[in-house]
Amino acid sequence: MRKNRVAEILQVRYPIIEGGMAYVGNGELAAAVSNAGGFGQVAASGRTPEDFEEQIQIASSRTDKPFGVNIPISKYFVNDSYFRVVEAHKDRIQAISLGSGDPRPYIPYFKELGLKVMVLVGSVKHAVNAEKSGADIVICEGFEAGGRNSPFELTLFSLVPQVRRAVRIPVVAAGGIVTGHGVVAAMALGAEGVQMGTRFIATKECPAHEHYKRKLLEAEDNDTVIIERSIGGVNRVLNTPYVNQITELEKNQPAFDQLYPLINGRRNRIAAIDGHINDGWLHAGQSVGLITSIMSAGEVIQQILQEVKECGLRLNQSLEELLATD
Ligand SMILES: Cc1cc2nc3c(=O)[nH]c(=O)nc-3n(C[C@H](O)[C@H](O)[C@H](O)COP(=O)(O)O)c2cc1C
Repeated sequence: MRKNRVAEILQVRYPIIEGGMAYVGNGELAAAVSNAGGFGQVAASGRTPEDFEEQIQIASSRTDKPFGVNIPISKYFVNDSYFRVVEAHKDRIQAISLGSGDPRPYIPYFKELGLKVMVLVGSVKHAVNAEKSGADIVICEGFEAGGRNSPFELTLFSLVPQVRRAVRIPVVAAGGIVTGHGVVAAMALGAEGVQMGTRFIATKECPAHEHYKRKLLEAEDNDTVIIERSIGGVNRVLNTPYVNQITELEKNQPAFDQLYPLINGRRNRIAAIDGHINDGWLHAGQSVGLITSIMSAGEVIQQILQEVKECGLRLNQSLEELLATD
């Protein structure tokens, strides 16, 4: 049987990736996902270079399976300190995912280190550019996704098939995938793997505060909102009373200095890690309403695989009915 290309590139059993996640994507969670046959990632975002390195060491000590790291391409992260950490641990890191900014100048550097490179994209043009620059995988992130999204705001349903048609390298779908049904749908559109963020926060191994996890369980379909549009950003977060202050302020086009104290990363940390949800904001994707329990990362992956099987069987039947001629 032909092997799934994403699983082959990442050297994992299942093409299920834990997306890089600021503050909450630590070494313990990455190892748990990788131990369950998926691909865990340690995020640089929200970490000093020292903390980033420590989390890579924790992941290494807790799994002998491949895992990756995530670095946003921005002034803050594209510097010697973070790159040196990756270089020091290159033998243990299977792949790096690059989000935000323009990854093209950095892809050859990471390829030379021997890493596989995944690039997050929100448009066909960016996917084609990533492929031309040597990326091994493109991760299409739809507007449904938790966290900072592409300004193009394309939904996964539109993005994946158009990117799939434009590139030869494997496409991974990210944004709004929480169940096996989402995985099957993504694959029907042409994805060869999935990346999930929000679902992995509601796990036992995730360092997110229990208040954050409880908020995810309580949230319904329309409980996420976009903030930072007034400064050209697209940041999908849970719609809490704290966030309401931000959205109200943004209606009046505030000056950056007025908005920044409310939207900075420290405000994310205060809520996500310390649990002060009235003093900070929390990322979540639009499918958050499908999350109904806190499980281990391994149980999440097993449940998804079971759902993939069940959904596949049901889908076969539905398609037979659709195509039946009388
Ligand atoms: C809490 C949180 C933090 C995130 N931080 C990052 C990050 O630092 N770098 C990045 O490339 N993507 C980041 N993302 C996006 C995820 O990697 C992933 O693509 C996204 O969560 C997928 O959508 P979903 O949440 O609907 O599953 C973050 C998402 C969440 C929920």
